[in-house]
Amino acid sequence: MRVICPGSFDPVTHGHLDIVRRAVTLFDEVVVAVGRNSAKNYLFSPDERVAMLTESCSQWPTVRVLGFEGLLVDVCRAEGCSAIVKGLRFPGDFEFELQMAQMNHALTGIETVLLPTAARWAHLSSTMIREVARFGGDVSSFVPATVLERIRAKMAVGPQTKEQS
Ligand code: PNS
Repeated sequence: MRVICPGSFDPVTHGHLDIVRRAVTLFDEVVVAVGRNSAKNYLFSPDERVAMLTESCSQWPTVRVLGFEGLLVDVCRAEGCSAIVKGLRFPGDFEFELQMAQMNHALTGIETVLLPTAARWAHLSSTMIREVARFGGDVSSFVPATVLERIRAKMAVGPQTKEQS
């Protein structure tokens, strides 16, 4: 069975990678899809986010990373994915994920599998990592080393421009 793990991944965290790793153990093939949430402003461009995921998932041969625009259900259809896999950190996540799962199911009948995030990563969010990094805080224990380098480089050149969002 081929599944899709979608997200913004701005940047990818150990929490995201724990969900991908567990999806790898549960399903034959995993497509990691780097998307765009129209309500968000991004620090990293789509290409940078795909590159970070590609580097971070290279140890799993059954994982493929791609970027997408538009509806997730259309990517699922195009890539032959039978289910969506997402992580749940806390009850607040559930409300939004349930709504998205129901909408995606209503659109094409695709199922969503929600995996509880490992407790050690439950406090992580890309938004908080960006915030901490922006003010010079240490985010080294929350992201892979390659991602940390990219965050530091991004902070050194200053905040994102509108074109990157
Ligand atoms: O990590 P995020 O920001 O929660 O990821 C959200 C993302 C990009 C996976 C989600 O916004 C998405 O699927 N966007 C594509 C548009 C879509 O299909 N929305 C769901 C139906 S309302």
